[in-house]
Amino acid sequence: MPQITDISYARQLDREDPLANYRDKFHFGEKDLVYLDGNSLGRLPIQTKERVNQVLEQEWGNRLIRGWNEGWMGMSARIGAKIAHLVGAREDEVLVCDATSINLFKLTMAALNYRKDKYRIISDELNFPSDLYVLKGIVDLLGAPYEFEEVKSNDAQGIDPESIRTALNDKTALLSFSHTSFKSSFVQDMKAITELAHEYDAMILWDLSHSVGSVPVELNACNADLAVGCTYKYLNGGPGSPAFLYVRKDLQEKLQQPVQGWLGSETPFEFGTEYKPASGITRFQVGTPPILSLSAIEPGLDLQLEAGMHALREKSLRQTEYMIALFDSWLAPLDFSLGSPRNPAFRGSHVAIQHPQAAEITEALIRGDRGGTRVIPDFRQPDNIRLGIAPIYNSFEDIFLGIQRIREITEKIG
Ligand SMILES: Cc1ncc(COP(=O)(O)O)c(C=O)c1O
Repeated sequence: MPQITDISYARQLDREDPLANYRDKFHFGEKDLVYLDGNSLGRLPIQTKERVNQVLEQEWGNRLIRGWNEGWMGMSARIGAKIAHLVGAREDEVLVCDATSINLFKLTMAALNYRKDKYRIISDELNFPSDLYVLKGIVDLLGAPYEFEEVKSNDAQGIDPESIRTALNDKTALLSFSHTSFKSSFVQDMKAITELAHEYDAMILWDLSHSVGSVPVELNACNADLAVGCTYKYLNGGPGSPAFLYVRKDLQEKLQQPVQGWLGSETPFEFGTEYKPASGITRFQVGTPPILSLSAIEPGLDLQLEAGMHALREKSLRQTEYMIALFDSWLAPLDFSLGSPRNPAFRGSHVAIQHPQAAEITEALIRGDRGGTRVIPDFRQPDNIRLGIAPIYNSFEDIFLGIQRIREITEKIG
């Protein structure tokens, strides 16, 4: 039996992998590149080239404006319905539109307007900066008595639910957290924290950007109120592909969309001067959807649905475990520390490793110095190298080669 530090061990795991064939469904421009950044920008699905080309030539090129009535108008909801299956929501609770930050703004304003009796927003210091900027910006915009509280982490990796409980009181209107933390990969207990929010009669808004497509999410089963997330990471929707939002069914008619655009109105093509919101999730639409980018989301999404969230999570867990085992053998002795939880129940699909020379090591990995394997991870201040594993296309061999290369480079630098 080979050792975990033998490449034959990785190859054996790849032969046993029931999802291994999905790798062939993605574009590999540089054959030897080890891409460990699918949690920032996913790879291009081969089918997406065909789909986008079809939209360009046949739909835009030939059908021109008739395209709007031949599928474009309903595309945001139709693709949203597919995403719903990945996040445990009803098909009519998810809409694809705008950027994640914009959707966060829309839903936060809608929640605060709905809970006018309360004025506190709670998030945590590990949340994605854009989320914190948007939430704090809203508090500035609305002025007193609105206030923002940032729960602190005890270990710079995760957030203790008890710290969240301490921050809550009867004036808390909204809690907003990332389900999976962008830096450490820490996964919050959605059910427990949603229950905690509801215990205090507060609403909750989850950012699913680092979960969707890699960590199972059960929005309905957790009774979550609101959520947002992006499609260009594990969903492989392409650079800047539009984000999604989720609003629980019973809240849709109660919430007021703060950006009252024509495509969120009841009858946009009557061109009336008074805004009346559309019913259902459509009211959270604002303006004309970016059809080319939207259409690029669907082929990757179909692959995720076909592979199945359960199988993807199972593979992702095996892969992060394998990566951590290699880390322990090869990198821990080189002054690296693990920046992600060891407990798999609290870990998403990337592994953060920390080193005082992390920036220098990342640059050398990307340059592929001295003919060595070129590896693309990403770097997050001050000392984190994030190694993203997209279970739909990353192999165990990718993980082996990536960690082996980090060891080689660190030995040279150090
Ligand atoms: C967790 C999280 N939330 C929000 C965003 C910002 O998304 P957008 O650029 O779509 O606003 C990102 C971007 O990487 C993210 O990782």
